[in-house]
Amino acid sequence: MATTRCSAALAAIWCSAALAATRRGTAPARRAPAALLAALLALPLLAGCRQEMARQRRLDPQGPTDAWPGGVAARKLPPGVVARDSVLEPPPRPSVTPALLARGQERFVIACQPCHGAAGDGDGIIVRRGFPRPPSFHARRLLAMPARHVVEVIGQGYGVMYAYADRVAPADRWAIAAYVRALQLSRHATLADAPEAANALEAGAPEAPSPSVPAEAAP
Ligand code: HEC
Repeated sequence: MATTRCSAALAAIWCSAALAATRRGTAPARRAPAALLAALLALPLLAGCRQEMARQRRLDPQGPTDAWPGGVAARKLPPGVVARDSVLEPPPRPSVTPALLARGQERFVIACQPCHGAAGDGDGIIVRRGFPRPPSFHARRLLAMPARHVVEVIGQGYGVMYAYADRVAPADRWAIAAYVRALQLSRHATLADAPEAANALEAGAPEAPSPSVPAEAAP
């Protein structure tokens, strides 16, 4: 009923305006007051008119629905959802395994290598195209950093390096940190760090066995 009234009022106003604009031969001085009068008469009819969007079919957050089990329109939050301003605990530190290192290598190649370079020298392809150069992971200061520092830099960024929190899952940060440690060790290891390889070399074996993960690689 209200919708009909609103439509009629709008139509009346529109018609009077259109009529005033199209009637030729009538002096403008007489046209304008007539159109104004018609519009004014139709105006009170608009009182109480609302936009149709206010009446559309919708589900209110706590309102009832039979669209899904539970009967309430608001859905349950999936597990793991946190508020935007919650302070998150740092991810627990896992033990270093070959699987963790392999995962770390894979993620490092994707997320870090473009800038830090395949061996961590800070000469990635992006840097060679003009991006600020990161320090080498083999520099004295970074050789001495705790593995947790890598985890924190990934999560929070550091200087001009922006955070990778939205691209590297918390568990993968430790995996990458372990791989960075392995990269560092690879350049400073001695034969004593890889006894199997040392034995193979001494025995004159043509091919050294693939080294196992040394204990020092632990973050
Ligand atoms: C887009 C380029 C870029 C990418 C990708 C990148 N970094 Fe960096 N990183 C930098 C730059 C540049 C710096 C030096 C920042 C500074 O000193 O202002 C840096 C610094 C660091 C440092 C040293 C912090 C210190 O104490 O000096 C660590 C550790 C680090 N990055 C780890 C990582 C890891 C791990 C990844 C992959 C998840 C990564 N970065 C991805 C550019 C990058």
